[in-house]
Amino acid sequence: MKLSITEQLPDVDAAAVICFEPEAGGVPEDIPMAGQNGWLADLRSSGEFTGKLYESVTLYRPEGIPAKRLVVTGGGKSINFTPTEARRVAGVLVRSLKPKGVKTVALWLESTHATPANISAIAEGAVTGAWDPDKYKTDPKKNEKLIESFSVVVPNGKADSEALQRGRIIGEAQNFARTIINEPGNKLTPSVLAEKAKTIAETNRLECEVLDRAAMEELGMGALLGVAQGSTNAPFLIVLKYKPEQAKSADHLALVGKGVTFDTGGISIKPADGMEKMKYDMAGAAAVIGAMQAIAQLKPPIAVTAYVPTVENAIGGNAQRPGDIVTTLSGKTVEVLNTDAEGRLILADAITYANRNGATHMVDAATLTGAIAVALGHYNVGAFTNNQPLLERLFSAARKAGERMWQLPLEEEYKDYLKSAFADLPNIGGRYGGAITAAWFLKEFADPTPWVHLDIASTAWLDDAKPWIAKGPSGVAVRSFVQLATEWAS
Ligand code: BES
Ligand code: ZN
Ligand code: ZN
Repeated sequence: MKLSITEQLPDVDAAAVICFEPEAGGVPEDIPMAGQNGWLADLRSSGEFTGKLYESVTLYRPEGIPAKRLVVTGGGKSINFTPTEARRVAGVLVRSLKPKGVKTVALWLESTHATPANISAIAEGAVTGAWDPDKYKTDPKKNEKLIESFSVVVPNGKADSEALQRGRIIGEAQNFARTIINEPGNKLTPSVLAEKAKTIAETNRLECEVLDRAAMEELGMGALLGVAQGSTNAPFLIVLKYKPEQAKSADHLALVGKGVTFDTGGISIKPADGMEKMKYDMAGAAAVIGAMQAIAQLKPPIAVTAYVPTVENAIGGNAQRPGDIVTTLSGKTVEVLNTDAEGRLILADAITYANRNGATHMVDAATLTGAIAVALGHYNVGAFTNNQPLLERLFSAARKAGERMWQLPLEEEYKDYLKSAFADLPNIGGRYGGAITAAWFLKEFADPTPWVHLDIASTAWLDDAKPWIAKGPSGVAVRSFVQLATEWAS
């Protein structure tokens, strides 16, 4: 989909205009085509259009504008219209027009809302809205229904193409993440994920190093290798480095992402029902790699390195057993009480490795626990930290990026849930606070570096489509990571 921003309404299949709920006693909005033949007033007085968010009415052959249709789209209350609404309105528009075979779309944005943040959000919403998880559908007609161009039309002097490009870059990074998350376990093995990361590095001029099994054995990554040993698909630790031409700070941000390409649970096997979804257990890895793509294109003045441990948690004659004791890269020993708590094991070694390679600040994203869904449901990412200022910084970035996160505690008492009779740590806690004990486990390896852990297990996959986004992988955390990196030095 080609994106552009103009001050003149182009000749398109569908022009859309956002109309708001009328303020009490207020006059109609500043929309050029609204007055011409009184259609907006008619729509309002008939009750067919009130301006509520996502409401939509289509007028054919609108007078005086070069478009086949005019889609009147609800924007809700004008004062509540933020980038979140802008992003969704664009997504709803694209998703409702795509199945109708509409190829060219323009969205008119009036003056007060034509801000850089809204323009970026509209680009993101259009790009992410256009994505569908249909790669493996062989319907020959599916490519006939693609939106080819999307224009944002703004008043004179408001055509901020940098904001538009930024939104496109971020939306495409989010779609990249969604595309690889959606790949099934037979198509996306750890080596395929490493190849994808290499390709991203080559096309975006990032440095890329991939540690293989031998290199990790040499280093002593016993926790990661223990998880990997049950699979014939070899494990890797992917490292992607972005180095700014001129760093504005000596800080070095590390992004760490859980890359389990399929999680059977191992010998502590998962129930069959719903196991197919465990292809998304590399959503943290996808978020981190996607964010690196956007960071490479947006070039913030801070060093960012991604660390992606990637394995398949499989069952086999050589699989790790409950009760096995592994020695992590840090030297700490772990008793593997449950082979299904594998994410924290691979992350422990990756976090130690990031620490040894100069990370001054660390954020990880992982589909770590089912317990996070019990705690927060599906609408907030769970966040944990050993450093409140870093968390506040990330939360501020997430707010701007339109991603919701909620902090959970990591107080000393919770450590009591992590006791092993035979090793330094067990890999699971007891019955309660499962997302917290998982985070506590990671903290043991992150300390003392400022670190935030994001548990995205309940937000990385949408079980139902929303009007603005398809069902399936959400690509959560990409936007927050990019925002964090780009505003770091400013
Ligand atoms: N990948 C899962 C967590 C998960 C669950 C992600 C549901 C997405 C949806 C993780 O490896 C896991 O299995 N965690 C266990 C931990 C338990 C054994 C302490 C869990 O949450 O059940
Ligand atoms: Zn698991
Ligand atoms: Zn897992």
